[in-house]
Amino acid sequence: MSEDGLISATAAPEERAFEAGLRPRTLDEFVGQRKVREQLSIMLEGAQGRGRPPDHVLLSGPPGLGKTSLAMIVAEELGVPLRMTSGPAIERAGDLVAILTALTPGEVLFLDEIHRIARPAEELLYAAMEDFRVDVVLGKGPGATAIPLDLAPFTLVGATTRSGLLTGPLRDRFGFTGHMDFYDADELALVLARSARLLGVRLTDDGAVEVAGRSRGTPRIANRLLRRVRDYAEVRADGVVSRDVAQAALRVYDVDALGLDRLDRAVLDALVRRFGGGPVGLGTLAVAVGEEVETVEDVSEPFLLRAGLLVRTARGRVATPAAFTHLGMEPVSDALGRSQAQVVLFAEEPPPV
Ligand SMILES: Nc1ncnc2c1ncn2[C@@H]1O[C@H](COP(=O)(O)OP(=O)(O)OP(=O)(O)O)[C@@H](O)[C@H]1O
Ligand SMILES: [Mg+2]
Repeated sequence: MSEDGLISATAAPEERAFEAGLRPRTLDEFVGQRKVREQLSIMLEGAQGRGRPPDHVLLSGPPGLGKTSLAMIVAEELGVPLRMTSGPAIERAGDLVAILTALTPGEVLFLDEIHRIARPAEELLYAAMEDFRVDVVLGKGPGATAIPLDLAPFTLVGATTRSGLLTGPLRDRFGFTGHMDFYDADELALVLARSARLLGVRLTDDGAVEVAGRSRGTPRIANRLLRRVRDYAEVRADGVVSRDVAQAALRVYDVDALGLDRLDRAVLDALVRRFGGGPVGLGTLAVAVGEEVETVEDVSEPFLLRAGLLVRTARGRVATPAAFTHLGMEPVSDALGRSQAQVVLFAEEPPPV
């Protein structure tokens, strides 16, 4: 696997089967996201007590944090079937009507990448979510008639990496939104210990901590790195993934101490070396690394922000002193010893609340 594939947070197609085997099946098995887990569990229990399907659930957050896993858990915990589809798969309103009318009472419908659903289908979803009803339009023009069809009550679980792209009316129809955040290293170590158990990998505690620290807050990456260090442990060592073995393996695979991938490093490098640390607009930065603005914004930036390597300001992105240091450079500061990020943020009006 290329270096890019190794630590990109998006799933590679050949990875699906492997991931399916490691998915947590119940809320108790699901590590981390304590807040979302607690809120969901109360909501599910409440609905079960009333004997009604729970409110629709929206899960938002960067790739690989467990949105799909959580959607499957919702159905599992409710003991109901799960039907999976995605925004891009629904091209016409008719596609959605076919799915909705086939749902059995209480079923969970998982709509992945919901921000990419076609507009006519989205509009149909409004009444479906609110009143469990769809209006099927027959004919065209002035002679067209709308036939209302009743649906079985269901729970929609939507997932998105870009909740900002959802329209207001769609967002308002979800009774609960869970914001998934990056995992801390302790949580990832737990994810790794569980995966190691399932895969029969001998992983020491400090080996887990080492891999966790380079997994960019993302369980998908942690599991992928675990597979690579296992190979290394079996081929070059005694089969046990200890701290030393993990370090040596990750050196071979070019995973740096922070776990940055090629794109993250390219973004940081452009920001620091080509634009002197910024501020620089996101569009300019994306062009400099030869990527779409959306890719830089959704895939790279969230983790760079979280790792404290980059800050967002009204005038553009600015590198922090930590970014300079990470690239082996001296941080830039003004006569008062303030970092570039401090200077830019200081000069700014506080954003309106
Ligand atoms: N909380 C968790 N505990 C244990 N394993 C997890 C957890 N979250 C995710 N994983 C693991 O990470 C993998 C990726 O998770 P999942 O597919 O649910 O992420 P996602 O948010 O849906 O990603 P994408 O945005 O790419 O669809 C899963 O196979 C699962 O093994
Ligand atoms: Mg998913």
